[in-house]
Amino acid sequence: MSRKRVAVLISGRGSNMAALIEAAKDNSYPAEIVLVLSNKADAGGLVTARDNDIATEVVDHTPFGKDRAAFDAAMQSKLETHRIDLVCLAGFMRLLSPGFVALWQNRMLNIHPALLPAFKGLDTHRRAIEAGAKIHGATVHFVEPEMDAGPIIMQGAVAVRPNDTEAALSARVLAVEHRIYPAALKLVAEDRVRVVDNRCLIDGVPVPDTATLRPFP
Ligand code: GAR
Repeated sequence: MSRKRVAVLISGRGSNMAALIEAAKDNSYPAEIVLVLSNKADAGGLVTARDNDIATEVVDHTPFGKDRAAFDAAMQSKLETHRIDLVCLAGFMRLLSPGFVALWQNRMLNIHPALLPAFKGLDTHRRAIEAGAKIHGATVHFVEPEMDAGPIIMQGAVAVRPNDTEAALSARVLAVEHRIYPAALKLVAEDRVRVVDNRCLIDGVPVPDTATLRPFP
């Protein structure tokens, strides 16, 4: 099977993007990262991508104002130029138009730093601590028009510690993100993930061992 051509969309430092790039350096990995696209020219991740000889594109959202569809069309044109099969959102902080999301249905992944459907949106670690959550974590899911929603491909959990700070919890969750994103993309790129009734089946079953990470200490 030929390797899937993946675009990673970023807005910032791109540590998840870097984890995907590292995983894809192995020729047996079923996907290759062929494009990193950012809506911000100064996104730190663009430097990492260039250092790894990966093509980069910047589509600045500001000239498009409120016209999300036009911004998305400009991104779509870049994705077509680079013959992209799968899109990975990795800290890409723009809402996407329903039309664009539909074009990429079950071919666009996102990572979110919480155990969805809990704690959608921003400041997830602070909110988890304030809520007294005992378990927190990260989710890789297929993208739907609603923010931080869509069929869950993989989750990884961490225990919340008694005196956790936002920074400490965030660092432990980020380490989990860097494990589950490459693992989830691998499953999708191998065509092993099917969405039935808004749930992901992997190799035909809802929760196989390959899609769970037990809580880390
Ligand atoms: C990551 O923690 C990612 O889960 C989060 O942004 C961070 C980006 O960091 N994404 C979201 O909050 C999406 N709702 P990175 O640029 O180092 O990968």
